Amino acid sequence: MNTFVKTVEAYKQGARTMPGRYYTSADVQHEEQEKIWRRQWISVGRTAELASPADYRTVEIGGESLIVLRDQQGKLRAFFNICRHRGTRLCTGERGRLSETIQCPYHAWTYALDGRLIGAPHMHEVEGFQKADYPLHQAALAEWNGFYFVNLDREPQPFASVFAPLGDRFDRFNLPALVTVRRIVYDVRANWKLIMQNYSECLHCPTIHPELSTKLPYTSGANDLVEGRFLGGYMDIKAPNESATMTGRACGLPLGNLSAEDRARGYYYTLFPSMMLSLHPDYAVYYTVWPRTPQESQVICDWMVHPDSPQSPGYHIADAEEFWDRTNRQDWDICQRSQLGVASSRYVPGPYSPRESMPAAWDREYLRQMEG
Ligand code: FES
Ligand code: FE
Repeated sequence: MNTFVKTVEAYKQGARTMPGRYYTSADVQHEEQEKIWRRQWISVGRTAELASPADYRTVEIGGESLIVLRDQQGKLRAFFNICRHRGTRLCTGERGRLSETIQCPYHAWTYALDGRLIGAPHMHEVEGFQKADYPLHQAALAEWNGFYFVNLDREPQPFASVFAPLGDRFDRFNLPALVTVRRIVYDVRANWKLIMQNYSECLHCPTIHPELSTKLPYTSGANDLVEGRFLGGYMDIKAPNESATMTGRACGLPLGNLSAEDRARGYYYTLFPSMMLSLHPDYAVYYTVWPRTPQESQVICDWMVHPDSPQSPGYHIADAEEFWDRTNRQDWDICQRSQLGVASSRYVPGPYSPRESMPAAWDREYLRQMEG
């Protein structure tokens, strides 16, 4: 029995936190690269960030560098960032606009934006050489509600079947049309899983987030996705507040065609492994978490609103930005303290309470994926 299976067995006896090595060990991180980051559908960004043909960005996932671009036909594609000649890294920039091709800086092999090799100096002198045999290595890419996801697996699980459990539950929030209006990037000295677990419960809210608790009572609401890759539910926005903002007032237009019930709630979901989505009546927050080392992560946090909101009277995204920026920093601070504690030789898994059923379910899903 491998160590992960043993952990799952022990864990099922009663929901307990995971052993310390999951938060500190380079071996576990290595295993995660293989079992999670190179196998799962990873949320990378919004399709609007690559709006025009030849727009590109690079992204690192599972120890690999990828180029994500929009090709001349308008299709989003992801390629491994390596030349088919002698393997050189093709793009070193973070983002920008390509010319109509990608040219390797070493010996000038040249690729069309759909990945075809179209130029390879002197290779016609090599008997049997066919350009068609050397396209860029492609990674799978899927678009969903204005977000895009990539998958490094050679035979990825079909995106549609993986995401089927979400069904049409977000349709009313108009996600494809939302525009990103703010971004904050946070460096957090904590393992990425502590960040996902922390997002998944509000038992800590009265102690860590006193202001948030006046707008979103931690005992309110219910979870509607309770097992598997997608987890979460809603909390009530306490009347007379209209939203989760510093002032309690709405900071923009409703995101979509929302019922009175939706207008009095915040919805909070984790999409395994590393996406978090917070939906409020008037704005959404989209997080992606990126492991750097076992003890360090980066969190990219985007605020999104209805496309007409920025021009509408009463628009005040800073009210929502400050609310979550403060809350986020309180969360990262406590995650960093957790990291210090779980690295201790005296740390052993502790019992989760019923108010922590979501982090417990998140851990179960994580361990299932690590078993695979
Ligand atoms: Fe890219 Fe030679 S390694 S052209
Ligand atoms: Fe929190």
